[in-house]
Amino acid sequence: MGSYMDFLALYGVGGAHPGGILLTKELMYREEITEDMAILDIGCGTAQTAVFLKEMFECRVAGLEIHPIMIQKAKKRVLAAGADIELIKGSAERMPFRDGEFDLITSESVLAFVDRKKVLSEVMRTLKPGGLLLAVEMTAEIELEDDDRNDLSGFYGVRDILNEDEWRRCAVESGFKTVEIEKPDFPLLSPEPVIEFDLSEEIPEEIHEMLDRHEEYLKKYKDLLGVRIIKCQK
Ligand SMILES: C[S@@+](CC[C@H](N)C(=O)[O-])C[C@H]1O[C@@H](n2cnc3c(N)ncnc32)[C@H](O)[C@@H]1O
Repeated sequence: MGSYMDFLALYGVGGAHPGGILLTKELMYREEITEDMAILDIGCGTAQTAVFLKEMFECRVAGLEIHPIMIQKAKKRVLAAGADIELIKGSAERMPFRDGEFDLITSESVLAFVDRKKVLSEVMRTLKPGGLLLAVEMTAEIELEDDDRNDLSGFYGVRDILNEDEWRRCAVESGFKTVEIEKPDFPLLSPEPVIEFDLSEEIPEEIHEMLDRHEEYLKKYKDLLGVRIIKCQK
């Protein structure tokens, strides 16, 4: 059976994180990004954010993505944009980058799906001293019942759903010097203002059904799940 990640990949969803590219732009415009910087987007999906970063800031941009179909669609987008972006197929748990290569690492709805400790340790390793991690991640607004937790993990394939305090602890324990967490003030767990699709030619019926199920989950859990912007400095 296909996973939620297969669904995102086969549909070629661009902006597969709460708030979509609009939130991404808002967050990036707040930072002082200059041409001499290097940015890495982990779990870059179809490279929508990577292309925006390259076109907007003209700095070095790299994208790391594990899903074979996603990386293919990312390459297609980057080629169409004529953007000079390094796209690498690989795992955020073992990043193929040197120590201290990046000024900024972005994670848009990725940390919930991975081995967080390993990924955060890799983020710490590959960031320059003083570098930033900027993450947009699904967050539990209240203590979730086990049934809800299992239901959500089963469908989305997330390892766990952290609340704000747990995100903070996790970042502090990974060694970041400062951790700021912000609750965005507009509704994000709606299908808007997303979404771009790059559909694969053949999509199994079970994957199509996931779109409806995803909408159902958004409605069912709209009061329990929220989003946090997590900004950490090394
Ligand atoms: C919810 S999607 C978000 C995609 C993209 N950041 C966006 O906002 O459109 C999560 C992405 O993380 C990727 N991913 C999951 N585990 C990963 C890992 N261990 N290393 C690299 N990428 C991973 C998935 O394949 C998927 O593209």
